[in-house]
Amino acid sequence: MDPVKVVNILAIESSCDETSAAIIQDGKVLSNFIATQKVHELYGGVVPELASRAHMQNIVPVVDAAIKEANISNDDITAVAFTQSPGLIGSLLVGVCFAKAFAQAKGIPLIAVHHMQAHVLAHFINDKPEFPFLCLTVSGGHTQIVLCKDYLDMEVLGETIDDAAGEAFDKVAKMLGLPYPGGPLVDKYAQQGDPLKFKFPMSEMKDYEFSFSGIKTSVLYFLQAQKKLNPDFATENLKDICASVQYTIVNMLMQKLRKAAKDFNIKNVGIAGGVSANSGLRKAIQEAGEKYGWKVCIPEFEYCTDNAAMIGITGYHKFLKGDFTTLAASPSARATWH
Ligand code: KG4
Ligand code: ZN
Repeated sequence: MDPVKVVNILAIESSCDETSAAIIQDGKVLSNFIATQKVHELYGGVVPELASRAHMQNIVPVVDAAIKEANISNDDITAVAFTQSPGLIGSLLVGVCFAKAFAQAKGIPLIAVHHMQAHVLAHFINDKPEFPFLCLTVSGGHTQIVLCKDYLDMEVLGETIDDAAGEAFDKVAKMLGLPYPGGPLVDKYAQQGDPLKFKFPMSEMKDYEFSFSGIKTSVLYFLQAQKKLNPDFATENLKDICASVQYTIVNMLMQKLRKAAKDFNIKNVGIAGGVSANSGLRKAIQEAGEKYGWKVCIPEFEYCTDNAAMIGITGYHKFLKGDFTTLAASPSARATWH
């Protein structure tokens, strides 16, 4: 029998506007390269065709850099994990085709990863939350409350019926004339503003569902009305508007997270996805943790927004279970949770 070898997973993430590659050795991150595509800033949002083209340009150098940084060679790679879904189809295709070609050339297994499951497992890169673990996953495309019973045994308790929380941040930022992606900028200005200055309605949804299209529309109407009275209203009140919008979005998220933690009696609670980088949300979950006796888990900033390390850690757990895919695997823009 072969001696037990180290397991080196090459992980690829290309679902949206970040081209990322990572090497995960026996569950530990050796490298995690992220090439963020700046081209979309010009258009105020991600342009799918431009994203695919940028992935095509980035994929080889990014993978090379990740392998070099990890101080291993192509021949040391045990398996290739890639984001199969969900995401922009042209962007996913670049990662999927690269992963298939690499695996085929080296004769090594391929592992298909669900991007949202990977956001949750980003918690297990440097930490080890206990199961059952409740995760609020908030990104530019999704908002979900996920009950994790084990690494690969997860159930979505509820999600948004329309816009994602990150999308709401980005759209409000656009109305305020801030560049894409606006979420981090709203966060920055919010830290200097008064969260109670302006009041925006909270959506009332059943169970663990969310809705963020209402707040987007109410901010739009509010700004239109105020600008009729004072054309400089948005600029003059930028910090207070950002603080008030952020306060409302964070409250909507926390309300459902508290309900799920109480209903399922779970004390290990975390946030994941791009919006988990938000200072207001990080503070709110810490405060709730102190109040309700939760063990709070927040990923490091590097692992909040899209990155290949989270694909790699998910790939590693799938590798341990022998959960491989074939060359017939194809990407899917939307995928049901499994
Ligand atoms: O998870 P992610 O990198 O990509 C998707 O899978 O969508 O999330 C990106 C989203 C964007 O909407 C971005 O504006 C938001 O996360 N985001 C933030 C912050 N940092 C990133 N939103 C609010 N505050 C932040 N600090
Ligand atoms: Zn994401």
